[in-house]
Amino acid sequence: MMNREPPKIEAQRTFPPLDESLYNLRPRDAAFYKELTGIEDDAALKQHILDIQAKAYKVAPYGCIYLFLFTRRGLLDLPAYRQVLRIGRERKSSIFLDVGCCFGSDIREVILDGFPAAQTIGTDLHQELWDLGHELFKSSPETFLAHFVRGDAFNPEILAVAPPASMQTSGTSTPDLDSLTSLNPLRGCVSVIHATAFFHLFKEDQQLHMARAFAGLLSSEPGSIILGVHTGAQQKGVMNRVYRGIEVDMFAHSVESWTAMWDGEVFEKGTVKVDAQFKEVSEGAEGDERYPLLYWSVTRL
Ligand SMILES: C[S@@+](CC[C@H](N)C(=O)[O-])C[C@H]1O[C@@H](n2cnc3c(N)ncnc32)[C@H](O)[C@@H]1O
Repeated sequence: MMNREPPKIEAQRTFPPLDESLYNLRPRDAAFYKELTGIEDDAALKQHILDIQAKAYKVAPYGCIYLFLFTRRGLLDLPAYRQVLRIGRERKSSIFLDVGCCFGSDIREVILDGFPAAQTIGTDLHQELWDLGHELFKSSPETFLAHFVRGDAFNPEILAVAPPASMQTSGTSTPDLDSLTSLNPLRGCVSVIHATAFFHLFKEDQQLHMARAFAGLLSSEPGSIILGVHTGAQQKGVMNRVYRGIEVDMFAHSVESWTAMWDGEVFEKGTVKVDAQFKEVSEGAEGDERYPLLYWSVTRL
């Protein structure tokens, strides 16, 4: 196996110094952070989050860390999120996998909302970000039962492309999650795959590769779902723009191209239902900059 360098952040052109004025916890985000950290005082909570942000930005200066997107309870805005929670409640041994999980904040959200913790898995290039997640949420591997697999999702030893599972090949028994060091043993076993602010880091062909790799992990049981939100466009293509001081240079899919990729290229046409919605969102203030996003889900039929 060749020695692989972690990929650079090619989708981002600028890495500005951190700007505390971008910190803006909405009430629902503050409630989440207070409950999980036990820090009730607003100023102390802010300082705690700023400290972790500064450490994480040294590990990997992603726009999502710079913009405090990890403090947003983004799962709550995904149209298919209820379906995720239903799977956690109703399907025995269901697995929730978060790819590019960073601190694991979305995993903490699903667990808070009822998904069994021991059936959740995060995966990321950077072990340090996961460890900082423990520091951020004041947990430890003993108190927080989610699993973590460190690695590059483009490395076939971590995640190889495999055909979508069928009723015959879908995983019948769940692998031992405690000893997991690769995602490949999860082939055909995962009920929910979440990936937010992840696909847009990669070029068009890499996005297709990743989508195919996800498809191989997904359980064939109807209702199994892959979902997330990332940069979108009205017409697919390379998008170069500056948003709040971060210059991005990303390949962005449109509703039509994203739908056609999953339903036809990744999965055999007609075997999945794709829901993709394009929205330009602002961070709140009237007249604020708007950012184009694609909210999407792919459900096995
Ligand atoms: C922009 S952040 C998004 C984090 C989180 N999903 C969120 O919505 O806030 C992208 C994450 O993907 C991880 N990542 C980037 N390239 C990766 C790769 N090739 N394999 C695994 N993780 C990767 C980064 O380390 C980072 O934590």
